[in-house]
Amino acid sequence: MVRVFFAAGAQHWPEYEAPLRSALDAAGIAAELVLEPGDPAAVDYIIFAPGGVISDFAPFVNCKAVLNLWAGVERIVGNATLTQPLCRMVDPGLTMGMVEYVVGNVLRHHLGLDRYIRGAGEWRQIVPPLAQERAVAVLGLGELGLACAQALRALNFPVLGWSRTAKAVDGMQCFHGEDGLEAALRGADIVVTLLPRTPETEGLLNARRLGWMRPGAVIINPGRGALIKDDALLAALDSGAIGHATLDVFRVEPLPMDHRYWSHPRVTVTPHIAADTRASSASRVVVENIRRGEAGLPLLHLVDRARGY
Ligand code: NDP
Ligand code: OXD
Repeated sequence: MVRVFFAAGAQHWPEYEAPLRSALDAAGIAAELVLEPGDPAAVDYIIFAPGGVISDFAPFVNCKAVLNLWAGVERIVGNATLTQPLCRMVDPGLTMGMVEYVVGNVLRHHLGLDRYIRGAGEWRQIVPPLAQERAVAVLGLGELGLACAQALRALNFPVLGWSRTAKAVDGMQCFHGEDGLEAALRGADIVVTLLPRTPETEGLLNARRLGWMRPGAVIINPGRGALIKDDALLAALDSGAIGHATLDVFRVEPLPMDHRYWSHPRVTVTPHIAADTRASSASRVVVENIRRGEAGLPLLHLVDRARGY
């Protein structure tokens, strides 16, 4: 009998219990799924989420993997007590949600919809260019960034992708390195940030790099708040150098009510809702890793601790 400790927080238990049990049954895994660990040495797998019930992994001496329900791992990857393999969430439901959020927000800015939503009573025809004339940079070409980039390509947007390692993706220009970042930022009207928070990406969009963006360009950040230097972004928004920022993630969440982002006319705040892990599909992902762990197969979506994502 495999013992699986659901340490993601009791508030998520009602949503996850049934899908996890049915995924375990479907995989033919005899498992005891528990909300309390009992003897930590008897736990085989830990299902984790930030804000969950454990921060000390040391007592779980026989645990074969910690399975994170979040795609981002910055709140666990540096935990010194964590010696077990750490897997992050790659969930088809989460990816679909992110594609919808990014495409929806790109289209909002591309079509200039705010003008009409706010401008009732004014008959002024402003025809937007076609998507093929509006370049979008996607920073981060991982599970989420690549899916968004491909959806934007399917709508004819020219896409400039940027990642840590060099890539070749059909139909889009791919960049890496500092020069590549400059080329991607200078070449786009809309910039989408889907990078993880790591020591290398912390404060990536600072005043100098924001200065590479086209006048009036738009930023859409569903990645992590720490990717952007807030003061530099606010200064660029104040001057109009950046036309708009749609921000889903912040250095402090919930975003404090006195933060300038809430009232800035060029900022849209969404409360970290870009994409949620979906219990039914994510449970199958978690259970697939348990199946692999039990069969001695390599785990999926392993986090590279040195890289930080
Ligand atoms: P992945 O790990 O699959 O992809 C990360 C991408 O970022 C890769 O392309 C990677 O490059 C690139 N990258 C990492 N470090 C650097 C760097 N220093 N310079 C340039 N590129 C870099 O992550 P996901 O796509 O699954 O998720 C991305 C992030 O989205 C998550 O970490 C999380 O912060 C955020 N997220 C936000 C959600 C929300 O609701 N707002 C929901 C889910 C995730 P390479 O390919 O070369 O390795
Ligand atoms: C995630 C997130 O990382 O929701 O999964 O931000």
